[in-house]
Amino acid sequence: MKRELIITEDGSHTLYLPEMQEHYHSVHGALQESKHVFIEAGLKQQNRSTINLLEVGFGTGLNALLSLQHAHEFGQHIHYFGLEKYPLQAEEYQQLNYGRLLNEHSAYELQKMHECPWNEPVQLTEYFVLQKINNDIHGYNFAALPLFDLIYFDAFAPSKQEGIWTEAIFRTLYNHCKPGAILVTYCAKGSVRRDLQSVGFRMERIPGPPGKKEMLRGIK
Ligand SMILES: C[S@@+](CC[C@H](N)C(=O)[O-])C[C@H]1O[C@@H](n2cnc3c(N)ncnc32)[C@H](O)[C@@H]1O
Repeated sequence: MKRELIITEDGSHTLYLPEMQEHYHSVHGALQESKHVFIEAGLKQQNRSTINLLEVGFGTGLNALLSLQHAHEFGQHIHYFGLEKYPLQAEEYQQLNYGRLLNEHSAYELQKMHECPWNEPVQLTEYFVLQKINNDIHGYNFAALPLFDLIYFDAFAPSKQEGIWTEAIFRTLYNHCKPGAILVTYCAKGSVRRDLQSVGFRMERIPGPPGKKEMLRGIK
């Protein structure tokens, strides 16, 4: 799959898929979006001392990197499950500028995340275990994983990848969440909100990152 490196409006990189005409992040700012949607509206709202976190679409690892740094800063233990069907190639992740934009540890941390083996838990820091799962969410059997406290639903937009934003997938995820678990997504589409609601999440529309009026958050 051909992917192009793009600079978004806040200076951070994202990837563009010409075939799908879709970006991995908001063109208004990848880093800004990731911090707003997943860290501020998601991770910071889940104050349990130990968190099982599922990301649907590990991609560039940006959300995982910010989560690792948050875990360290706030002393939260995170077991991070990064589900990804199409892992990046080394020549793609090596070019990403997130390391340079964040702090002096970031480049090394991001590299470790991408280079560590798939499909097994890897203790990256005292607070952070990364388990990248190279699989398709369609038909994936979550039974072997612990129940989740937090889900980052970061698939491509429903207009590009409708099959992922389905009630069936939302129900599987809901059933694999602990009570009080939170799901966040950048998407604010009405049908997505209703489908998440119909499987049991209590949904709210909250302000989105710059360039996007709203996003969605659900609580089990
Ligand atoms: C919008 S991108 C976000 C990626 C990532 N969260 C990031 O910050 O870079 C969506 C991701 O979902 C992955 N993906 C697409 N279809 C998938 C599927 N069926 N199962 C698992 N992952 C999938 C894509 O390869 C891509 O990495």
